[in-house]
Amino acid sequence: MDREELVAYVRSHGDGVLSTLGADGSPQAAYLPITATDAGELVLDARTSSRKVANLRRDPRVAVVIGGRDGTTLQCEGLADLPDGADRDACARAYLDAFPQFATSLAEPEIVLLRIRLTWARYGDYRPGISSSREVDLGVAIRRVRPDDWRSARALRLEALQDEAAGIAFLETYERASAEPDAFYRGRTERAAAGDDVAQFVAIDGAAWVGSVTVIAQRAGFLDYHGRPVGRSRAAVVGVYVRGEQRGSGLIDRLLEETARWARDLGFDELTLGVHAENARAQGAYRRAGFVPSGVTFASSIGPELEMVRHL
Ligand SMILES: CC(C)(COP(=O)(O)OP(=O)(O)OC[C@H]1O[C@@H](n2cnc3c(N)ncnc32)[C@H](O)[C@@H]1OP(=O)(O)O)[C@@H](O)C(=O)NCCC(=O)NCCS
Repeated sequence: MDREELVAYVRSHGDGVLSTLGADGSPQAAYLPITATDAGELVLDARTSSRKVANLRRDPRVAVVIGGRDGTTLQCEGLADLPDGADRDACARAYLDAFPQFATSLAEPEIVLLRIRLTWARYGDYRPGISSSREVDLGVAIRRVRPDDWRSARALRLEALQDEAAGIAFLETYERASAEPDAFYRGRTERAAAGDDVAQFVAIDGAAWVGSVTVIAQRAGFLDYHGRPVGRSRAAVVGVYVRGEQRGSGLIDRLLEETARWARDLGFDELTLGVHAENARAQGAYRRAGFVPSGVTFASSIGPELEMVRHL
């Protein structure tokens, strides 16, 4: 079973048992209507005054079981939250598609939507003649950061800045970045989460952040992040990082595709980036993703760089 099949399974069952952790760590379970978003997040609703909401505000770890009666079952584990803004809208759409009869109750102020991002799932089939159970391939999910992601965004950035290639990869240093206050990362993540100026896309494997690419709109007449005037509007890719164990997996291609889609949707016809002359691995990845050297070379704070461009 993969993520898409999991979504279909959850939607076809429409209910399950959710277990949260009480204040003393004891499990507390409840039977509920449950559906899934296209991205494979589980969605359910709850009263703000309920035990489960109090529990997951304190500890977001949950376990869910779906199915059972027909001899098949899906066991899941994940992290729950109360989404807001566009995330809540996406969850509400999925919820009301599945349960239109709950439209009135969902509008009540004491009802909240809960979203569960899965970190592990196992599908079991114990129908007569079959006896199998296997882990669901949840794959690595790619999405734009959300404003409340700043802690994970900071952790991944600090990890990247300690990579052995950091000296030929990033203009920022670990020393400077690790000294920045929380407000710096809050602001940076908020800006990258919404709007048309900058977007950060991250790769998440279960609960682990394993890659990131940021794309910045560079509009003609303004200065770029090196402080040079921009002659022609285009979008620039920066902060490219994939964790060691995921290198060579094609993840970088998926991340770069997200930046290309974002830039294209905003009307840009070119993606650009600067890469250190000695960063052969990054250059190889960019070439494969359709970038070619523009012929422009320059010196930045980390040394000689070449510009690469990709037409969209
Ligand atoms: C740059 C980075 C995101 C690329 O992701 P990746 O998963 O490692 O890239 P891939 O392995 O898919 O692709 C690298 C390509 O370069 C080639 N390559 C690898 N090492 C190389 C080297 N030393 N010399 C020349 N080519 C090399 C690979 O063969 C591959 O090309 P191919 O698919 O045509 O065979 C990742 O390595 C990383 O995070 N590095 C540290 C941070 C960094 O350098 N960021 C970029 C800043 S501009």
